[in-house]
Amino acid sequence: MAGSIEAMFRLDGRTALVTGSSRGIGREIARTLSLAGASVLVHGSRESEALREAAEECGAVPVIGDLSSPEGVESLIGACRAAVPSLDILVLNASVQKYVELGEFDESEFLREFQANTAASFRLIEAFSPAMRERRWGRIVTVGSVNQLRPSPRLTLYSATKSAQMSLTTNFAKTLAPHGVTVNCLVPGVILTDRNTEALKDPVYREKVRSQVPCGFFGETRDCAGAALLLASEAGRYITGIELPVTGGMHL
Ligand SMILES: NC(=O)c1ccc[n+]([C@@H]2O[C@H](COP(=O)([O-])OP(=O)(O)OC[C@H]3O[C@@H](n4cnc5c(N)ncnc54)[C@H](OP(=O)(O)O)[C@@H]3O)[C@@H](O)[C@H]2O)c1
Repeated sequence: MAGSIEAMFRLDGRTALVTGSSRGIGREIARTLSLAGASVLVHGSRESEALREAAEECGAVPVIGDLSSPEGVESLIGACRAAVPSLDILVLNASVQKYVELGEFDESEFLREFQANTAASFRLIEAFSPAMRERRWGRIVTVGSVNQLRPSPRLTLYSATKSAQMSLTTNFAKTLAPHGVTVNCLVPGVILTDRNTEALKDPVYREKVRSQVPCGFFGETRDCAGAALLLASEAGRYITGIELPVTGGMHL
C-alpha cells in the first residue's frame, strides 16, 4: 500500500494522546486514530465508566488529569510518560465552558477556563513537542470553536480562551514547521454531544441555532474525525498553522 492514498492516512507505529476522549468529539477522534493504526492514550478529567468504555473501544490506555489546575496537567504528563516512551500525535480537545452574561463574570471562572483551554494546551505542547522535533515527525491538533470566529455574547470568556489557543497554534506552527511537526486547529461548529444536550432541549432555541447553520443540520462527532485524521497523518504533512472549520458553514 506504500504510496497509496490509504497509506497516506495510516498511522501504524504512531502513538497519540487525545485529551477529553472519554466522551464526545474526542472519543470519536481517538476511535478514528486507533482504526487508522495508532496506539492511543484516551483521557478524562477523572476515572469514569465512560473513560473505561472509551479505552476498551480503542484498545487504548486510559490516563487522567484535571486540566483546570496546573497540578492536574503535570499529573497527566506524568501518566503519559509512564504509559509510553513518547508521543507522535497530540490532540488537544478537552475544554471547559460556562454560559455567563456580562456582569456575571468572576475571577475564578476566568482563571479556570484560561487554565483548562489555553494554559494546559501550552504546557502539553511544551512537554511533548521536543521529542517530536528530535524524531522530525509530529502532529499537534488543537480543538477550537466556531466561537473564535463568530461572537457569542454568553460565551465571551470561552471564545477568548479559544482565540488565545489559536494564537498558540500559529506561533507553535511557525516554530515547529522546520522540524517536521505541524500544528493546526480543528474548529467545530455545533456538534451533538453531552455538552449541548441541555441547551438544545428547548425546541425554539434549537431551531434558532439550527437556522444559523447554512448546511441546515447539526454536526455529529464523526464529522470532526475525518478532519482530525487528515491533520494527524502524512496526508496533512504540508498543512500547518490553519484553522479548519467543521461547522456546516456556521462560521460564515
Ligand atoms: N460540541 C460542540 O458543539 C462544540 C462546539 C465547538 C467547539 N467544541 C469543542 O470541541 C471539544 C470537545 O467538545 P465535546 O462537545 O465533545 O465535549 P464533551 O462532550 O463535553 O466532552 C468533554 C471531554 O473533555 C473532558 N474534560 C472536561 N473537563 C475537563 C477538565 N477540567 N480536565 C480534563 N478533561 C476535561 C471530559 O472528561 P470527563 O468525561 O472526565 O468529564 C470529556 O472527555 C472542546 O474543546 C469544545 O470546546 C465543541
